[in-house]
Amino acid sequence: MKTEILRDIDRASEMLKEGGLVAIPTETVYGLAANAMNPNAVANIFTVKGRPQDNPLIVHVAHTDWLDAIVKYAPPIARTLTDAFWPGPLTLIFPASDSVPRVVTAGLDTVAVRCPNHSMTQRLLETSGLYLAAPSANISGKPSPTTARHVFDDLNGKIPAILDGGACGVGVESTVLDLTSEKPQILRHGGITRRDLEKFTELSDDKLPDAPKAPGMKYRHYAPSAPLKILRGGVPDEGVVLCPEEQRVLFAGGKLDVIVYGELANPETLNRGLFDALRRADAMNKPIFALCPGGEGFEALRDRLYKAAGYLEEG
Ligand code: TXA
Ligand code: MG
Repeated sequence: MKTEILRDIDRASEMLKEGGLVAIPTETVYGLAANAMNPNAVANIFTVKGRPQDNPLIVHVAHTDWLDAIVKYAPPIARTLTDAFWPGPLTLIFPASDSVPRVVTAGLDTVAVRCPNHSMTQRLLETSGLYLAAPSANISGKPSPTTARHVFDDLNGKIPAILDGGACGVGVESTVLDLTSEKPQILRHGGITRRDLEKFTELSDDKLPDAPKAPGMKYRHYAPSAPLKILRGGVPDEGVVLCPEEQRVLFAGGKLDVIVYGELANPETLNRGLFDALRRADAMNKPIFALCPGGEGFEALRDRLYKAAGYLEEG
C-alpha cells in the first residue's frame, strides 16, 4: 500500500467512510483515525500500531452536542469544563452509551472523548459527520508524532493516507480527566495543566490507583530505540543530551551533542519540541540523556521523559 500525504479533507472523509484509516492532525499530536462506529476499522488501528488490545481509544467529536449519542450520563462539571477547554487538549472520561463499540473502549464501560482544536480536523469531523476513534499515530511504544513526516516515518505503507496539517502546536497529548470518579481525577498529564483545571473544580488526589485506570499508562511509551537516561548530575562522555535553552551552558565545550528543545521560561515550548527532539536524537544512534525540569507546570513533560526512560511512574 502506498501512503498518500493529503490536504484534501473531502477525500480523507471518503476514505474514513469506506472504513479506511487516515492519520489526522490535532493541536496535540497526530492521531490515527477510524470511524468509531465501524468495529472492523477500529480493530485495524490496533493491528497497524501494534497496540495492546486492552488499551482503549479516544473518540474525537466536532462539538459538545455530539456527546449525547455516545455518553450515558454527563455530570454537571462536564459542561463547565467543555465550556472552558473545548475545543482543546482535554479528554474527558464518561460512562459509555451502548452505541459505542466495545473495541473502542477495550471492553470498559466508560468512553474517552475529546474535541480537538485544529481547523482541518474540525472540518473533517463536520463534513464527514463521523465520530473518529484515534490514538496517537505512532507505532505503539514510540514517541508520538507531531508532524506528518513523523507519521510517515512510522506508518508508511501501512495506512492509505495522512492528512497534513503542519506541525502540532501543543506537542504533548491531551490531559485525560476521569469524570466517573467521586472527584475528577487526572489519569494522564497533558496539554491542560493541573492548575488550569483547578480553577474550575477540585481534583482528586494525583496518586493513581495501583491498577492504572488509564490502561495506556502501564506500558513503556514515547521511547526511542536508543537507551534514554534522565541526567541527575555529572556529564557523560558520549551521547546526545536533550536540554532546555537555559541549561545549554552546562554542556559548553564538552563532547556531547546537544539538542535544545525549548525554554524553561516557557514550558509550552518544551512540550512542543519534546517528541521531535526524541526522534532526532534517536536518529543519531547514540545514548540519549535528558535533563528533566522539576516543579509545577512541567508534569506532562516529566511524565513523557520518565516513560521514555522506561520508568512506569515518576520517581
Ligand atoms: O492528544 C491526544 O489525546 C491524542 C490525539 C490524537 O487526540 N490521542 C492520544 O491517544 O494520545 P492515545 O490512544 O495515544 O492515548 C489515550 C489515553 C491512553 O492512556 C488510554 O489508556 C486512555 O487515554 N483512555 C482511553 N479511553 C479510556 C477510558 N475509557 N478510561 C480510561 N482511560 C482511557
Ligand atoms: Mg499514544
